[in-house]
Amino acid sequence: MRTPLVMGNWKLNGTKESVAELLNGLAGPAAKATGVEVAVCPPAIFLGQTEALTKDGAIEFGAQNCDLNVAGAFTGETSAVMVKSFGAKYSLVGHSERRTLHAETDEVVAAKFKVIQDNGLVPVLCIGETLEEREADKTNSVVEKQLAAVIAAHGVAALENSVIAYEPVWAIGTGKVASKEQAQEVHAHIRQWLAAQDANVAAKVQILYGGSVGPATAAELFAQPDIDGGLVGGASLKVADFTAIIEAAQ
Ligand code: G3H
Repeated sequence: MRTPLVMGNWKLNGTKESVAELLNGLAGPAAKATGVEVAVCPPAIFLGQTEALTKDGAIEFGAQNCDLNVAGAFTGETSAVMVKSFGAKYSLVGHSERRTLHAETDEVVAAKFKVIQDNGLVPVLCIGETLEEREADKTNSVVEKQLAAVIAAHGVAALENSVIAYEPVWAIGTGKVASKEQAQEVHAHIRQWLAAQDANVAAKVQILYGGSVGPATAAELFAQPDIDGGLVGGASLKVADFTAIIEAAQ
């Protein structure tokens, strides 16, 4: 009943030329894909180009981050209003790279979540544990705390119109993909934990897996009952790999 979503996070990669090549290359496969939503999150500077090259609607798109403020003297930032004005559907929020490299706390992430949602975008809330936390058996408590910050600020119903991306930090960009069992276990925990608060939200919310997803591992991950697609980094920059991952979700 939940439609799978395959979302590429391009991070800080691309040029005008490579963006055109990638989006033109994905247009055919995305238009042919059935039963799966396809989206990309380019760097903000490419949002206009992405809008122009995805006019047929087969590929949705979003930002990788939005500022807490929607306008004003905040040099270098991008606002949810600006992102929405390009026709974007999504914005990532709380990606582990933002949490660690830009010191975004759970509270900041929760505040950004609301700004994104209030301005007509669907927040893709990224959560996940470090290797140290996993080894200390804290995975469940870490993801609960990250979710609880949003719920405490905005209520569990706010998650209904959102996407959750479980991304174990140790699997991001490392080539160490979580096994299908490891990923399913955490996804099921997240869903059960949410269900204890709101069964409807838990049943509806898409929970994506992210962390070294590639053509070889996507199908077995996406076949898990609580994994509703993927948030794909490196492999989303190659037409052939991202196409194979889209196919694996069908
Ligand atoms: O947002 C995407 C994740 O950080 C995963 O990146 O597929 O390169 O490991 P990756």
